Amino acid sequence: MTKLDLGGATAIVTGGSRGIGPYIADALAGQGARVALVARSEPELAVNARRLADAGAEVIAVPADITSAQARRELIEVVERRLGPVDVLVNNAGGDLQREFHNLTEDEVQGLLELNLTSAVLLTRLVLAGMLERGRGHVVNVSSMAGRVSFPYTEAYAAAKDGLIAFTRVLRADYRSRGVSASTIILGPVGEAGVGARTAEEVGIKLPPVGLVAPAKIGRQTARAIRRDKRELAVLPGPGRLLRAIMDRFPGLGPALNRASGTNKTMRTVAEYREREARLAAAERSAGGPLSGRGAGER
Ligand SMILES: NC(=O)c1ccc[n+]([C@@H]2O[C@H](COP(=O)([O-])OP(=O)(O)OC[C@H]3O[C@@H](n4cnc5c(N)ncnc54)[C@H](OP(=O)(O)O)[C@@H]3O)[C@@H](O)[C@H]2O)c1
Repeated sequence: MTKLDLGGATAIVTGGSRGIGPYIADALAGQGARVALVARSEPELAVNARRLADAGAEVIAVPADITSAQARRELIEVVERRLGPVDVLVNNAGGDLQREFHNLTEDEVQGLLELNLTSAVLLTRLVLAGMLERGRGHVVNVSSMAGRVSFPYTEAYAAAKDGLIAFTRVLRADYRSRGVSASTIILGPVGEAGVGARTAEEVGIKLPPVGLVAPAKIGRQTARAIRRDKRELAVLPGPGRLLRAIMDRFPGLGPALNRASGTNKTMRTVAEYREREARLAAAERSAGGPLSGRGAGER
């Protein structure tokens, strides 16, 4: 068994500037971990680090674009220099463009795979050797139901999130006997914070209040996955068992369920909104500046 006590452990949490990441950081710091918050947005990272430090945590903000190989190497160096050897890596940063797959450029598809899969795999590779030397470490990869059931317009994102589940499974099997373990956190819809809640507000759609998980619960479950060395934790709303059964045993039911639950319609609204935004951005690029009378695509 490789249960890891978070007291005094050094933990990296990617995606620490907004959404679910800060809640994961709160939960790990609450158990006594020293936390490095990683994301690109420096001001937001600084605010979150200050909040944790005010609550008594040892925390640093490390601005970095995790899709850059050099930035990944530098961020590990900074964390090890300032907080000590890395015991826990939470690969939480991620996101989707929420657009029709055939309209994405090759670079956009590549970017989605890099953010949601490659950077997590390569960050893990960077910390693994040290963890093995010390015989102590845990990697948590934050995945999504999208990796298991087919939500519309998520082709590249779903491929990456499903890939993350497979990566975690093999990592865990290969290294657990040497003291390094791995867990997958599978998320459904999240309320209060995160990309789903932000998108709903931006696009003007209502998310069903009973179908959402609170981000603080995701933080707590992440800490639990590490402490108890859980293989996989699905943090799902209300009818969690039903969703879990569909996800695990009948993934083919996904499209019918999406139709019946109105998910298809909601995702269509979001995708149309994002397509309008993308067209507007392309028009602005070719005009060499902002166009007047921005419509639904205005942020
Ligand atoms: N919210 C949901 O409903 C939901 C559902 C299922 C799964 N998930 C998964 O949960 C995780 C967190 O999602 P969220 O809702 O918290 O998303 P979010 O609110 O959009 O936050 C994403 C985080 O990732 C960081 N990030 C993005 N690109 C980055 C890059 N290149 N380098 C470093 N950091 C980067 C962002 O910071 P910067 O922009 O400052 O870099 C931000 O801190 C993701 O993996 C997502 O796929 C979320």
